[in-house]
Amino acid sequence: MDCMWTDATFILFWLHVYTWLPGHCHLYNNRYDGDKVIRIVPKNDIEAYELKALYSKLQVDLWQPSSLSYIGKDTVTDVRTSNNSSQTLLTYLRNSNIQHTILVNNLQKVIEKQNVSGTQRYRRSLSRYNYEEYHSLDEIERWMHHMNKTYPHLVSMFSIGKSYEGRPLYVLKLGKKASRFRKKAIWIDCGIHAREWIGPVFCQWFVKEALNTYHLDPSMKKILTLLNVYIMPVFNVDGYHYSWTTDRFWRKTRSKYRFNCFGVDANRNWKVKWCEEGASLHPCDNTYCGPYAESEPEVQAASQFLYKQRKHIRAYLSIHSYAQMLLYPYSYQYEAIPNYHCVASAASNAVHALQTAYGVLYQHGPASSTLYLSSGSSIDWAYNNGIPYTFAFELRDTGYYGFLLPESLIKPTCTETMLAVKNIALHILKKCR
Ligand SMILES: *[C@@H]1O[C@H](CO)[C@@H](O)[C@H](O)[C@H]1NC(C)=O
Ligand SMILES: *[C@@H]1O[C@H](CO)[C@@H](O)[C@H](O)[C@H]1NC(C)=O
Ligand SMILES: *[C@@H]1O[C@H](CO)[C@@H](O)[C@H](O)[C@H]1NC(C)=O
Ligand SMILES: *[C@@H]1O[C@H](CO)[C@@H](O)[C@H](O)[C@H]1NC(C)=O
Ligand SMILES: [Zn+2]
Repeated sequence: MDCMWTDATFILFWLHVYTWLPGHCHLYNNRYDGDKVIRIVPKNDIEAYELKALYSKLQVDLWQPSSLSYIGKDTVTDVRTSNNSSQTLLTYLRNSNIQHTILVNNLQKVIEKQNVSGTQRYRRSLSRYNYEEYHSLDEIERWMHHMNKTYPHLVSMFSIGKSYEGRPLYVLKLGKKASRFRKKAIWIDCGIHAREWIGPVFCQWFVKEALNTYHLDPSMKKILTLLNVYIMPVFNVDGYHYSWTTDRFWRKTRSKYRFNCFGVDANRNWKVKWCEEGASLHPCDNTYCGPYAESEPEVQAASQFLYKQRKHIRAYLSIHSYAQMLLYPYSYQYEAIPNYHCVASAASNAVHALQTAYGVLYQHGPASSTLYLSSGSSIDWAYNNGIPYTFAFELRDTGYYGFLLPESLIKPTCTETMLAVKNIALHILKKCR
């Protein structure tokens, strides 16, 4: 049986008829049956090196971090393997005495228990949009049009280009219109990596909160009065759609170059130290940098827009998951950025603000030394092109659910992240020397 969202359900949706989809079928054609997620803790460089070779031979899917480099005793790698490969991997780990835990024993079961993929669910009309659910690309686009229409004094919407598969790349612009001066701005993008579903949820949450609290909360009023906030809820639209219809753990774009492998890592494709450390030249890898910098139309469109607006945009924020980290440049080298002092203090304040909500702890620091070295990343590109504050958020959690963060955790995750993002927005309105 086909378990995916069908045209018939779209039509029903438009008629505001509440639909109930058949629930007793396997999501994603049961492709994750027996898949395991294993956390592995190498003790040293040599173990990490050997693991890397084995990962590539077994074609495991690196969840977090997305490339393995030994960064000391805190090096942890979460990987997804098929049932078959897991036998080889587990035998190797036991024989080599490498510390490991099985985080998930059968991934298919977890997916089905969480009702991901939007089947098995009541649908609501746009005026009762549920911000505590994951939404398909079509739903998110309909919601964007709705916001554009409903809040004309605070919201506008435009497309900055087209994806590889021809979808529009929509951006919402939030802010009170100012006639006398050119406003400064913040950019927030979500969903560069398709499977990190909490990202697009946060972008939508931000818009909802901004519009709901504008009249009540003086700091939100200040932000929307003095700044424009550009929000791109789904950067990698093709990949995101694919993660709903075909492969829940798809990360890359959907372009096709060589070897019958699809997609480029949209966070390794920017024109900054392109395809050096921490990116792969192999089209089948999850960190493939692409055939050349900005080969991906999504990256090209965003970088052109940001470049044109670079004099006004004071902060670039990119929302990822998972790891609970707030990262800033550089990703490609260990050297400190020139305004390190200002950026590090903004990060530290933002993380403290986040913690006040539920006590959730975030690490913060340069991406290179906090997570791993990577080249061609959006924060490095934005920073090197004149945006003084650039951050990548890695939202909840630290691996218990990983990419399958349940919908029940959307509210706390977005609530605390909101505090951090507002803190950064208020920070850039102040002078820092
Ligand atoms: C996984 O592999 C084991 C050992 O080969 C087998 O006993 C088990 O049935 C498999 N599980 C699934 C869900 O395929
Ligand atoms: C897993 O292993 C079994 C037995 O070795 C084999 O028949 C099966 O095709 C393998 N499945 C996959 C997906 O490789
Ligand atoms: C999944 O959907 C079923 C049927 O609506 C519901 O009973 C169950 O509580 C849902 N599970 C989760 C984790 O939301
Ligand atoms: C947003 O609304 C304005 C005003 O109604 C309209 O001109 C514009 O085309 C809309 N944007 C999109 C992308 O539909
Ligand atoms: Zn990511």
